Amino acid sequence: MFATRRLPGPALDELAAECDVDVWSDRMPPGADALADRSAAADGLVCLLTDRIDGALLARCPRLRAVSSVSVGVDHVDLAAATARRIPVGHTPGVLTETTADLAFALLLAAARRVVEGDRFVRGGEWAPERVWEPDMLLGRDVHGATLGVVGLGAIGQAVARRAAGFGMRVVGWSKTPRAVPGVASVALGALLAEADFVSVHVALTPETRGLLDADAIARMKPGAVLVNTARGGIVDETALAAALASGRLAGAGLDVFAREPLDSASPLLALPNVVLTPHIGSASEATRAKMATLAIRNLQAALAGHRMPHCANPAVYER
Ligand code: GLV
Repeated sequence: MFATRRLPGPALDELAAECDVDVWSDRMPPGADALADRSAAADGLVCLLTDRIDGALLARCPRLRAVSSVSVGVDHVDLAAATARRIPVGHTPGVLTETTADLAFALLLAAARRVVEGDRFVRGGEWAPERVWEPDMLLGRDVHGATLGVVGLGAIGQAVARRAAGFGMRVVGWSKTPRAVPGVASVALGALLAEADFVSVHVALTPETRGLLDADAIARMKPGAVLVNTARGGIVDETALAAALASGRLAGAGLDVFAREPLDSASPLLALPNVVLTPHIGSASEATRAKMATLAIRNLQAALAGHRMPHCANPAVYER
């Protein structure tokens, strides 16, 4: 089998004791040709969200019997093409829920209370004796008592809602498929955008959710609101968001994901002090990344042994 990157934890080494494991060892991910060449020799592929697994790649890999991504999101995989080839695609839900919710809340708090601006202020030598405690210095937004709007009430959205309860927030939520979640008032997306002081995005990126928070949706957000995105960049119109932040209509944003990653050095977001930016690290704790690797390897092992993957993103492959 071929793994497109070394993984944290022991899972890959354990697999290597059982079968031939080819691991891409460069720091740069494989390009499309290298990915196809190395995958073509394999019956199983362990990939990351940076690897584009499309129909053209699958067509070059007739031996391939299983794809297992070390991610919960599978927007980088053409699920229809994999299903047509009856290739199960594994992913890693569950194990990263709480870790990703922690980061969403960290970004929410950091953007609300201008934590990164404060850090820059101190390190930049601006904290001078005459500014030791200015009554109007770095004033932010209160999190306690505010309304949080959770866009997408799956496992991560619900975990963020639980954290919000501890901060005394009122939580409203919207999901494509309505869900009753304790402590969350279910509302239409338009109402959520109009009411929420903080909006946190937790839908998967699919053709239906691409651009869900477009310029119109951003214009409907409450003036002075803060947007947090730890899901996928393609869900939010970054140009419209940057304009709303630059004009002051939105107070801030905390963004871990971007339409193009790494973030383009020309992105207007980089020039905005009221945006906290992190490099797609939602699931990046030592323990969680090791669990993701273990789960991805379990998915692969199950499929190669002819069993159902524990977490399969295209269960239609198992329908007769
Ligand atoms: C991270 O973004 C993931 O999908 O696991």
